[in-house]
Amino acid sequence: MAPNWCGCGVASANSAKLSTNGLKLSSNRFNFSKPYPRRAYRVTAYYGLTTPPYELDALEPYMSKRTVEIHWGKHHNEHVEKLNRHLKTSAFYGHTLEEMVKATYNNGSPLVEFNDASSVWSHDFFWESMQPKGGSMPTGGVLDQIEKDFGSFTNFKDEFTFASLSLFGPGWVWLYLKRNEKKLAVAPTQNAISPLVWGDIPIIGLDMWEHAYYLDYKDDRSAYVNNFLDHLVSWHSVMVRMMRAEAFVNLGEPKIPVA
Ligand SMILES: [Fe+2]
Repeated sequence: MAPNWCGCGVASANSAKLSTNGLKLSSNRFNFSKPYPRRAYRVTAYYGLTTPPYELDALEPYMSKRTVEIHWGKHHNEHVEKLNRHLKTSAFYGHTLEEMVKATYNNGSPLVEFNDASSVWSHDFFWESMQPKGGSMPTGGVLDQIEKDFGSFTNFKDEFTFASLSLFGPGWVWLYLKRNEKKLAVAPTQNAISPLVWGDIPIIGLDMWEHAYYLDYKDDRSAYVNNFLDHLVSWHSVMVRMMRAEAFVNLGEPKIPVA
């Protein structure tokens, strides 16, 4: 059963369509016909299953509707439900998802909440890393930054593909911004790990677990990665994420002179 946002234990017909994490005052035990009882309100903070920002068949023929249905509706949703079960007794109840991923990684000794928290975050990020009629090449500042940090766009694609295919077992491959070095980089990660746990800023996330590609590509991971880069990756999302990242990492000369 998808987590419900009223906290009252009753599944909502729309619960699977609610987006992003939510914070909601629950009054399930509050009877408005009676005097206001002390401590009747409690804050419930459960995470919802984020809906991909397109129809489930919109990525065809490069990612089938059946793959998205199973990946999103089963695998992603299971992480949301398991995370919400953890939160009933977790010390991290009430944290934002990003805070929880970083904190529960626990400097490399992950706590029980980590796998599900990080998987929910990464899947939300993955769906928004793609768009119908995506792929091809970025433009403007994104292309400039990629060329600066990788030498050329072709080099970036080669590194991203190599990292994807070199991954042993389940995991992810990322384009991310290294905060300290102030440059873009590519890295594969095992299982549920993302660059968030290193304090860096993810820009693109590609799911390399079998459930992401096996129905459509069997063991041809190269075709999956190539189609992701050529037809699915959302350079619009990349542009927005880079703009956000620049609020934290100065990629150029300071624009405001220091007095
Ligand atoms: Fe996945």
